[in-house]
Amino acid sequence: MAIPKNIFLVIIGFLATFSIVLAKPGIASFYNSSYVPSKCYGTKPQGDLVAKVGSKSLWDGGAICGKKFNVTCTGETNKYLLHPCTGKSVVVKIVDYCPECTADATFYLPEKAFETISMVMAFEVKIDYVQ
Ligand SMILES: *[C@@H]1O[C@H](CO)[C@@H](O)[C@H](O)[C@H]1NC(C)=O
Ligand SMILES: *[C@@H]1O[C@H](CO)[C@@H](O)[C@H](O)[C@H]1NC(C)=O
Repeated sequence: MAIPKNIFLVIIGFLATFSIVLAKPGIASFYNSSYVPSKCYGTKPQGDLVAKVGSKSLWDGGAICGKKFNVTCTGETNKYLLHPCTGKSVVVKIVDYCPECTADATFYLPEKAFETISMVMAFEVKIDYVQ
């Protein structure tokens, strides 16, 4: 019977497409000042695997607070430092909104978390992020 096999392949194809759709492109930068206090958690520290959101629409009045994203470096944003990615991903929790952060990034990470995915010298990199 060929039909069930075809349906199976269609389902596999659908699942593969779906997981690609879930990953969104963005830019990550590092911001090495304190992540406490934060707009989401006040003076309660949330550890080292945290992030500030740079985009007002993504921040959405704080609705994104506490959501975790798996951030993967996908490449350089400029031609001065090529191949900055380490090949690793990092899962960070959103704790703050940073309209004053100047790099125009989707997410700002502490130096340590940024270093997991990229050379710090790169300052900012292209990313894919998945909740
Ligand atoms: C970033 O912050 C960490 C922790 O406070 C510190 O150890 C490190 O030296 C800082 N790096 C830079 C480049 O400021
Ligand atoms: C994060 O994403 C990367 C790349 O897609 C994947 O290899 C890794 O397993 C993910 N990590 C977690 C904790 O989901």
